[in-house]
Amino acid sequence: MTSETSTYQPVTACRSPALTGTVNVPGDKSISHRSLILGSLAAGETHVTGLLEGEDVLRTAAAMRALGADVFKDAAGVWHIFGRGVGALSEPDGVLDMGNSGTAARLLMGLVASCPFTTFFCGDESLHKRPMGRIALPITEMGAKITSRSEGRFPLAVTGNQLMPIDYELPVASAQVKSAIMLAALDTPGVTRIVEPRPSRDHTENMLRHFGAEVTVTALENGSREIMLCGQQELTPTHIIVPGDPSSAAFLVVAAAIIPGSDITILNVGLNPLRDGLFETLVEMGADLDVLNVRTEAGERVGDLHVKGGPLKGIEVPASRAPSMIDEYPVLFVAAAFATGKTVMKGLRELRVKESDRLATMAVGLKACGVSLEELEDGLIIDGTGTAPSGGGTVSTELDHRIAMSFLILGLATEQPVTVDDGQVMETSFPGFVQLLESLGGQFSQGPHA
Ligand code: S3P
Repeated sequence: MTSETSTYQPVTACRSPALTGTVNVPGDKSISHRSLILGSLAAGETHVTGLLEGEDVLRTAAAMRALGADVFKDAAGVWHIFGRGVGALSEPDGVLDMGNSGTAARLLMGLVASCPFTTFFCGDESLHKRPMGRIALPITEMGAKITSRSEGRFPLAVTGNQLMPIDYELPVASAQVKSAIMLAALDTPGVTRIVEPRPSRDHTENMLRHFGAEVTVTALENGSREIMLCGQQELTPTHIIVPGDPSSAAFLVVAAAIIPGSDITILNVGLNPLRDGLFETLVEMGADLDVLNVRTEAGERVGDLHVKGGPLKGIEVPASRAPSMIDEYPVLFVAAAFATGKTVMKGLRELRVKESDRLATMAVGLKACGVSLEELEDGLIIDGTGTAPSGGGTVSTELDHRIAMSFLILGLATEQPVTVDDGQVMETSFPGFVQLLESLGGQFSQGPHA
């Protein structure tokens, strides 16, 4: 019981001339998943423009259909979701295959915890390795039953129940865990209280409000955050405009920053303050990066990013910033490889349980490309010389889209080309990655380099 496997398709990136031009990146992955889930819970029709049509999000769309919502895209590219109402989902006929998507898996485990039936989940080889105990623990405490492989791993089944609200302190700052509990609490009588040690992305809170629900968020004195949600509220169908994904824009920003002479603009990028840590860090490293036309659209901060190539310097990145750039570390490691001096990045144990062990996978690949670094249990220290590393490596992507994209960005600026063993994985979050970079001047070839 696993996702279908694909044949590996290597892709090579070669040293490229200065990148120039103005582009948009695909829609935000986190907001896209939540649009489909919350739209399916609102009784009536929700429209979504700019939905990310990556494999991860399409898994959520298929799952919501299997749970009884009517979800489709029209000829103009707008997605329509005819939701069933809170507490009105129906038992899926088959197993929900979450593919590579940890977000789909974890949010939906929370969602079905309050449904009066059993939902079976599976995923790909990467997802089957990822810890699900962090979701199983709170939803079991609320009253659901989980039957899983050892340590709560996929494949697993969630038997839903009439749940009890909880008061839960998250052991790690995780938007997925927070959101899973909030989704479980939606059809649970009473008030559920969640405390996160540091603020993580707050799209679920913002979007629940956008659907008319009441959610209270309070900053506590020690830097933690309290979220209170009263269950059994109805959601009102709405219109959602999904901004460009800052985690996808990150690859283009770093590419332009490390390729001398580059000058690019990325339009309409989501700049939620709990997602913009990479941009702040790059500016501290000396990147020529400006945020223009900042505005609010559908409750989210949005702007345009203007980046030029130039020298970078190594810095110490505060560990407290990690939740606001957790998915951007692989490409920050690439930027650090071009900086002068040491870039110290710690407090990153969570990176070991992403789509791959991102500290180990990046360390192996960067060393193969001539980068000098030290791997710590919870981080990396990268020692840059201020010149382009040699490149020349072939990197194992370990079914991890962000590893593939990070090394292709590296290869655009190294002396020798860099090959990733499988380009297909990029479809999970960034369809058209290679073509978009080619439109700015990036040079790629299909297959390994000669
Ligand atoms: C996400 C939360 C983050 C992030 C993931 C998307 C979300 O995971 O890494 O890509 O949409 O809630 P954690 O909650 O595990 O930090």
